Amino acid sequence: VARLKTTVLGKEIRYFSEIGSTNNEAKRLAAEGCPEGLIVVAEAQSTGRGRLARGWFSPFGKGIWLSVVLRPPFHPLDAPKCTLMAAVALTKAIRKVTEAPCGIKWPNDILYEGKKLVGILTEMSAEMDAINYVVIGMGINVNIAPEEFPPELRDIATSVAAAAGRPVSRLALLAEVLAELETVYSLAVRQGFGPVLDEWRKLTITLGQQVNVLAPGETFAGIAVNIDNEGALLVDTGQGVRRILAGDVTIRPR
Ligand code: BTN
Repeated sequence: VARLKTTVLGKEIRYFSEIGSTNNEAKRLAAEGCPEGLIVVAEAQSTGRGRLARGWFSPFGKGIWLSVVLRPPFHPLDAPKCTLMAAVALTKAIRKVTEAPCGIKWPNDILYEGKKLVGILTEMSAEMDAINYVVIGMGINVNIAPEEFPPELRDIATSVAAAAGRPVSRLALLAEVLAELETVYSLAVRQGFGPVLDEWRKLTITLGQQVNVLAPGETFAGIAVNIDNEGALLVDTGQGVRRILAGDVTIRPR
């Protein structure tokens, strides 16, 4: 704890040896009125959750399974931008600690050599035009050896240690993630999302790529050309530019 460099994030820490899902616990505490910046971390999750109703592999002591409670002064429609903030912070922190050239795959993954290092699950509660809380859940595969992943994940998941070529201190990485997140969050509060989106554009691996888009109710292909000020992905299909606010993309190998 002494090694944290933040003033708000991590001021209050709930640490668990094992828990169902840190996001569920953070949402429960947020609904009870906990302060902004509270974090929930666990050594293991028994029912870790991913996006699109998927699970999240969360073995004991091998990753950072973390949820952060924010109470941002943003419009509820801007909540997805919290995912972009987290992606920027995580990429910078991992690059700083490992020098591995990882990058952001829109909207919420950090990849290294095409495989997933980190997943982000942002959940929100809002009333009328105000956010009550946002929980940013981050699953960072830190010291998981390739053979430790279940077979179905081996082709799509990797770890920070594998990218760095050495074991990585989870505490050092956690401190860096929180420091970067606090910096990018205060930037967004003070100056709006413009500077965050600029950083995001520099750290993404999605732009300029051929992608397959899995949007609610449809799939299509195109070239990812930009993200707009809402954080939506703009995909040129050849018959015009489509805007995707929610969904998933796969980058097609060239
Ligand atoms: C995804 O890529 O689908 C998002 C994965 C998010 C996983 C993290 S681990 C900590 C937090 N608690 C959860 O149950 N999920 C998130």
